[in-house]
Amino acid sequence: MAKNQIGILGAGAYLPERVLTNKDLEKIVNTADEWIMERTGIRERRIAAPEEDIATMGADASRQALENAGIEPDRLSYIILSTNSSPYLYPAAAIRVQEALGLNGKLAAFDLQAGCCGFNYALHVAERLVAQEGKYALVIGSDTNSRWSNWTDRSTCILFGDGAGAVVIGPSEQGRLKESFIASSLNMKLYCETEFNREVSPFLPHQTHTQRHYIYMDGPEVFKFAVGAVKESLRRILEMAGITREDIDYLIIHQANWRILDAGARFAKVPMEKLIVNVDKYGNTSAASVPIALHEALQEGKIQRGDNVLLISFGAGATWGAALVEW
Ligand code: UT7
Repeated sequence: MAKNQIGILGAGAYLPERVLTNKDLEKIVNTADEWIMERTGIRERRIAAPEEDIATMGADASRQALENAGIEPDRLSYIILSTNSSPYLYPAAAIRVQEALGLNGKLAAFDLQAGCCGFNYALHVAERLVAQEGKYALVIGSDTNSRWSNWTDRSTCILFGDGAGAVVIGPSEQGRLKESFIASSLNMKLYCETEFNREVSPFLPHQTHTQRHYIYMDGPEVFKFAVGAVKESLRRILEMAGITREDIDYLIIHQANWRILDAGARFAKVPMEKLIVNVDKYGNTSAASVPIALHEALQEGKIQRGDNVLLISFGAGATWGAALVEW
């Protein structure tokens, strides 16, 4: 079957209303607005309401992406939702999004877990599915990190926020997905165990009390990995596409920490005004961070037809990857 040229037709995002500022955090843990700003560039982040979760946020972002793409939901063949904070091991949150869009039984929906690089992974997989079949797919990143954060651990809880972003991809000359790659390598410096009934299983050593599981991160080690992953991703995607750093018009890097974005932009030799930054407003929204940033850059009219937009992310796993989009 001939391979179709696939492009991003539209993007959307959902950010919960509740804002948690650094000043608010000073009342929860022993931290300071100045420390957080200096080390991370984060000023505030969003916290999902009790009735919201990755599926409700993902559905809201998807409706907006479909509207911006001008694609009716019934033209979709796949929904891939990348997340690291699912409230259910099953069913997949993507199927809950499918249901919310009125598409029960009409397509295949599944979740994908690849740390904060999840959106790049989902985009890479979705592009390959629809390129063969000439169909449309929703690619979503959605995370509620606030529910897996240890709110007594100042070294991690200040970093994360909740949110969702989505794109619609399909046969198109607009937003052309020119090249992408994804990669991984085991790294236990950032992990989160799932809760399960260890204390009642007859097949595991007896545990007298349950211990809740939270995001664990060795910040400085992950920081070093992240900067290296951004540089490696840049080198590799430019080589794959046969372009130079000068050809990059916009750089969207996973919004984990301003210092990582700054190091990436310097290495790419991209002027600061071509670096998309919203980590100050939303913190690290994991798999949602790249599509939220892409959506905002499009809404603000920054990205113009013909621009080369580079999407780079990295995360727990470890995972990393990049996609080059010609708008
Ligand atoms: O999306 C997943 C990828 N994750 C990341 O990319 C995160 C990468 N890592 C980072 O962004 C940084 O490592 C952090 C922002 C997490 C930490 O910054 P750092 O410059 O690496 O600080 P550190 O961990 O080396 O800690 C320095 C000091 C320590 O105090 P002492 O031992 O020097 O007295 C910490 O206890 O800062 C202290 N500290 C804090 N102080 C005030 C740690 N967290 C805080 C805090 N407020 N929230």
